[in-house]
Order: sequence, then C-alpha cells, then structure tokens
Amino acid sequence: MKIGLLTGGGDCPGLNAVIRAVVGKGSSQYGDEFIGFLDGWRGVIEDRSVPLDWERCRKILFEGGTILGSSRTNVFKVEGGLEKVRAALKTNHLDALVAIGGDDTLGVASKLSAEGVNVVGVPKTIDNDLSATEVTFGFHTAVQIATEAIDRLRTTSESHNRVIICEVMGRHAGWIALYSGIAGGAVDVLLPEQPFDVEEVCERLRRHRGAGRRGSVVVVAEGATPKEGTFSTTSSEVDQFGHVRLGGVGNMLASEVESRTGFETRSAVLGHIQRGGTPLAFDRVLATRFGIGAIDAVHDGGSGTMVALQADKIVRVPLAEAVAAPKLVPADFYADVVMPLLG
Ligand code: F6P
Repeated sequence: MKIGLLTGGGDCPGLNAVIRAVVGKGSSQYGDEFIGFLDGWRGVIEDRSVPLDWERCRKILFEGGTILGSSRTNVFKVEGGLEKVRAALKTNHLDALVAIGGDDTLGVASKLSAEGVNVVGVPKTIDNDLSATEVTFGFHTAVQIATEAIDRLRTTSESHNRVIICEVMGRHAGWIALYSGIAGGAVDVLLPEQPFDVEEVCERLRRHRGAGRRGSVVVVAEGATPKEGTFSTTSSEVDQFGHVRLGGVGNMLASEVESRTGFETRSAVLGHIQRGGTPLAFDRVLATRFGIGAIDAVHDGGSGTMVALQADKIVRVPLAEAVAAPKLVPADFYADVVMPLLG
C-alpha cells in the first residue's frame, strides 16, 4: 500500500517515535511505501509532502517535535477542504492516511472517515485529555518537565521566602497540573475542572507559612478560573478550532495573592518548555506501540479507528467515539488524592 502520514495540533514528545514505528513495520513487514504531509492537514490541503522510508526514520526515535511539522488547520474550515484532501490522495496514489493528533486533528479524521476516506488515528497530546485511551504519549514527559521545574522553583522560593505560582499547560483538562502538583508537593493545585476560590488559596498559603515553611509553590493550569469570575485571557486570538490562546492566569493569581496576603509572590509560566525535547522512555515505548498498532489497523480492517491503550493492551476505538468527549480530571481524584494533602 501507499500511505500518507501527518502530525497535527500542538506538538508533543513521541511524535517521531510513532512515525518511525509506522514506517518501520509498514516497509519491512507489509512492503508499504510512505509519504509524510507537511504541517498537519494544511500539507494535505496544499499537497505538500516528503517521501518517508526507514533510512529517513530509523534515527528519529529520540527527537522531540515532529519531522513533518504541525499546524492547527481544520480541513472543514477551508473552502473546498474535503475536495482538496481527496485530490491530494488521488494525485499521490494513496490508499490510506495515518493521522497523529489530538481531539481536533482526529475530529477532522473522524469526519473524513465518514466521507469514505481510509484513515487511522493515533492519539497524541501532552494534555492527556482523550477519553478512549488511558494515557497519551507525551503526557509523562510533560509531567516530568513540570515536576523538575517545580522542584527548582521550590528551592529558590525557600531561599527568598516567597510564594511562587507555577502555570502549566492544560486548557480544559488539568492532568499536567494534577500530576506535577502531586509529584512536586505543591501547596495548592488549581485545575480547569474545579473553579478555585482565591481566598481559599490565600488561606492555605497563610497556614503553610504560618507553620514555618518558606518554600511555597502553587501549581495552576492555564485553563483554571477563579470562582469569583473569570480572569481575562492575554489574547483574544482564536485558531480554526475556536480555541482562545491561553496563558496569564499565573501572573494574575500571583498579584492577587500578594495583595491579599502580603507574601512576596512571583510567577513562572512553563509554556512550551513542556512540549519540547526528547520523550521519556515510557513515551517512546507507548508511541512505538501506537505506531505498530496503527499500521496493523491500516492493513486489517481498522479504517475509521484510533489506536488506544486500555488495560495495557493496544486496542482500536471508532474515531467518532474517541473524539466525542474529553477526559477530564474526575472530582473524586481531586478530592481523594489532592485535598487531604493540601496546606
Ligand atoms: O497541545 C495542547 C496544548 O499544549 C495545550 O495545553 C495548550 O493550551 C495549547 O496546546 C497551546 O497551543 P499553541 O502551541 O498553539 O500555543
């Protein structure tokens, strides 16, 4: 078969490991040929691609980012988008597509599949917010980066007797904040799923510091909002999937905490540092398993499905089902694991 690959949405450590696995097994076991579309769905629409073979892919396991580039292009928001996708498939004599992405990229894949396009999805996102899979590759790498940052922020916060607010990624789902906040021993963890009370955050900090502690780090997800009302975001720019660019809640929270408590407070926004660099071993392995699962799915009737991890097995889930609802942090996880340890 001749197969096209693409990576869409925010990049994530492990994308290259998926590409390597798909091309490796496809070429050696099935005799497939591959091209890689550049910059996600935009490259399909504009018919921009590069040839991919084992020689090009064998050494990319360790590389962060994606050798194919990425974009947040929505085929169905581009005039004639569907026809352009069909034309690119025809011109390049493609039998199938493997789309590696999060809910937006795979949402497009799902609609294309309903239009008869032969496509298999691979879930990626540092946010870990896809409900059909227990975990997405990239998530644990992002958590490790955030945890190491929190450890560093704690020591400087101790030296200077300051509060530090650490803002991590997570638009609707607070998995990164939750895991890194627990692992980093944060005084408080603020998630998009649970609007927070600024006064309660201040009260925790007063108790924490009242007990003689000097190092106080609060972790806040970029999508977290206070109960009293929503902070305005730093930008009103929206992408083709309608998402506002976030980033800024940490700064705003820091000045609010400082003015309410009198504690000297700083903020640090980790931003894209969480998405860059080489994947952890766990993510390399998961990405490789997903890639192998995807090329098998292309060959044995898995069109229209997304590969997923369930009970440590690689399974297939219909794309439409996979993108139907996000995986949010359940209230009981927060109540049972986070609340008892808060300051
Ligand atoms: O890919 C998901 C994500 O990392 C979100 O956590 C974050 O809100 C968004 O990407 C940032 O996107 P961009 O790179 O387009 O600024």
